Amino acid sequence: NWTMASFARETIEEIRSTVKDQQVVLGLSGGVDSSVAAVLIHKAIGDQLTCIFVDNGLLRKDEATTLKEILTTNLQMNIRFVDAGRQFLAALEKVTDPEAKRKIIGNLFIEIFDEEAKKIQNAAFLGQGTLYPDVIESRSAFGGPSAVIKSHHNVGGLPETMNLKLIEPLQYLFKDEVRALGTELGIPDAMVWRQPFPGPGLAIRILGEITEERLAILRDADAILLEEVRSAGLYKELWQSFVVLLPIRTVGVMGDHRTYEFTCVIRAVTSKDAMTADWARLPHEFLAKVSSRIINEVRGINRVAYDISSKPPATIEWE
Ligand code: XMP
Repeated sequence: NWTMASFARETIEEIRSTVKDQQVVLGLSGGVDSSVAAVLIHKAIGDQLTCIFVDNGLLRKDEATTLKEILTTNLQMNIRFVDAGRQFLAALEKVTDPEAKRKIIGNLFIEIFDEEAKKIQNAAFLGQGTLYPDVIESRSAFGGPSAVIKSHHNVGGLPETMNLKLIEPLQYLFKDEVRALGTELGIPDAMVWRQPFPGPGLAIRILGEITEERLAILRDADAILLEEVRSAGLYKELWQSFVVLLPIRTVGVMGDHRTYEFTCVIRAVTSKDAMTADWARLPHEFLAKVSSRIINEVRGINRVAYDISSKPPATIEWE
């Protein structure tokens, strides 16, 4: 009789007998998957686990600080924080192609992670929060006749210079099961119910070039959406909700001035595992409120659109 409790027990046993007295490193993203994987591994081997959190400077507004707080108070384990925002921004300068962005971010992440991990003596394993759909999507993307749809850098991104073996305790689970497991392990709702956030972060939510200015504009608009989603009680219902910044200027009017500013798009979807997704039927009054707040409060945006495409044929992210 399969239960989350017995799954947790058996997995913990298995990790223990695999790792023995060696060390495990794990990249924490602040998301549900890596957090649950970390807690599970930590329960198995305690201080033989070291987590590394790389702040790539592409997180949502206040996320780096909030995450640091959530992670350190909720996960009582070794966590090393690396502040690498400047490096990522420099590497992304003038880059506009979505796949190029992913590659640059993925490679730099591995480089920085690798450097940090090398400082850990006797590290033999890399823990990862890979889920079943991650495995499927990247397999079909690489194995099929068609080209890669989107390269997800969190799958197969193994530090090259070290010979680490993979530990992926969640590889047969779906998201809802990971959430149930997280709750079973005593992880608070604030972490278990976080909406997914892509590794390349806001870099794939700003079409075209990424600049500090555009990041700031997107962060402010995105924070307004999230605040409204939360206060309307919609956060848990939505698989993801976020804002995308289009570096296209359109004409608007503010008071008696003509404006010429960027457009942003609200993206909100429901889904079970991100393989398919439906655009959320958000109430018009809700959309009206978010739109007018963004236009009034965020300088640089004078137009808000709502994305009514489902996956497939669209994807959840715009890049
Ligand atoms: P798409 O846009 O392909 O996204 O429908 C499916 C899910 O995956 C997330 N996503 C990523 N996650 N690295 C990640 O870690 C990536 O490069 C990446 N691209 C998309 C996306 O947010 C959605 O949940």
